[in-house]
Amino acid sequence: MELKTIKQIKDLKNKQVLLRVDFNCPMENDQIIDDTRIKLVLPTIQYLIKKQAKVILISHLGRPKKHSQSSLSLKPFYNYLVAMFSKQEVGFVNDCLGKKVIKEVSKLKAGNVLLLENLRFYKQEQANEVDFARQLAKLADIYINDAFSVSHRQHASVSSITNFLPSYAGLLINKEIKILTAVLKSKAHPFVVLMGGQKISTKISTIKNLLNLADSVLIGGALVNNFLKAKTYNIGSSIYEAKMLTVCNELNNHKKIITPVDFKAWLNNSSQSKLLELDELNSFNNDFDILDIGDKTIDLFSKHIKNAKIIIWNGPMGKFENKNFSRGTKLIAQEIFNNKQARIIIGGGDIIRAISSLITDFDKLPANVFLSTGGGAMLKFLSGESLPGIKPLLFNK
Ligand code: 3PG
Repeated sequence: MELKTIKQIKDLKNKQVLLRVDFNCPMENDQIIDDTRIKLVLPTIQYLIKKQAKVILISHLGRPKKHSQSSLSLKPFYNYLVAMFSKQEVGFVNDCLGKKVIKEVSKLKAGNVLLLENLRFYKQEQANEVDFARQLAKLADIYINDAFSVSHRQHASVSSITNFLPSYAGLLINKEIKILTAVLKSKAHPFVVLMGGQKISTKISTIKNLLNLADSVLIGGALVNNFLKAKTYNIGSSIYEAKMLTVCNELNNHKKIITPVDFKAWLNNSSQSKLLELDELNSFNNDFDILDIGDKTIDLFSKHIKNAKIIIWNGPMGKFENKNFSRGTKLIAQEIFNNKQARIIIGGGDIIRAISSLITDFDKLPANVFLSTGGGAMLKFLSGESLPGIKPLLFNK
C-alpha cells in the first residue's frame, strides 16, 4: 500500500495548502488536557512552513450539537499554535467557510499558518456534502490529509474533498499506514493482541481478522463482560451488548482468545459500597460492576506479553480514570514497555490518555513503541477494511 505523500510535491512555495489534521483532543473547561495529537502532526506543519507553503489548517473537535457551540471551538488550538510557532504568523478565523475565510486566506504569506474553525459546525461536513467539500477546496491549491484518526469517516473534508484538489498524505498518516501495513504482513511471532475498552461491537471484526494473524488475543476492559455473559456467568450490572453474545460465545471456544480469570469490581447496594476482588462471579447478586482485571489475570497476560515479538494494544484494561481500577491498565502498560524486543503498536484515544495519565508522555515512550493516533481508524484498518480517507491517497486507487 503506497501513498502519494507530501514529499512528492515538487514545489510548495507560495502554494495554498489545506492540511486536514485531527485536533480532536480531550478538553476540560476550554483547555486542551492532552496534546498528543497536536504534537504528532507538528512535523508536517513544520515541513510545510519550511517549504514556504501557505498553511490552512482544518479540523473537527468533538461532535457539536449546534453551529458555533463555543465549548467545541478550535480557538484554544490557535492559542496553542501561537505559543508553538513564535517565528511565524498564526491566524484564526471563527468559521471554516465564507467571506471572512476567503479574505484571511488571501492575506496569507508564505510560511504562515491559518487555523479555521471546527468543520463540524456545519452538518454538511459529516454528511460528506459535495458542495461543502467544493467550497473548502476553493481555498487551496493542494489538499493534504494528515488525520489518520478520522480517515475511517466518510466526511467532506476527508473524502469528498479529494475529488476537487490534488491530494496527498501527510508525514504522520504515511508513517501510521506504513507501520500498520508492516504489522499486518509481519511474520514475527509470538504476535499478541490486547483488546480492551468498552464496546465489543466496534472491535469484533478487528478481533476476528487479527485471530488469523496473532498467536493470542487477550481480552480486557468491559469487552470481557460479553464473553463472560456468553458463558452464562453472572456479571451483575456490568455493561454488555446483548446482540454480541452469540459471536462471543463462538469466540469463547477459540483457543487463541484469552479472557481474564479474576476481576476487580465495585459492589453497590442499599447496605454497602465496596471494592471486591473476585475470581468467582456467581456468588454475588446483581449489584456489582466489573471494572478492572485482577492480579492473576495481570500475571497471565504478562506471560504472553513477555515473549511477544509483536504487540498490538487497543483499549484500557479497566476504568483507569478511577484509581481503584487503574492497576490493570498500568501494570500491563509497564509490562509491555519492559519488552524491548517487540514491535509495539498502541492506538486509541482512551489508551493514549491512560498512558499519559498513568505512566508517561508519549515522547518518553521506548523507541520500539509506536503510538497510533487512530482508535476507530486503526481498528478498521487492522480489520482489513479500506478507509475512505486513505483510498484517494493511494497510487493505485
Ligand atoms: C477520534 O477521536 O476517533 C476521531 O477524531 C474521530 O472522531 P469521531 O469518532 O467523532 O468521528
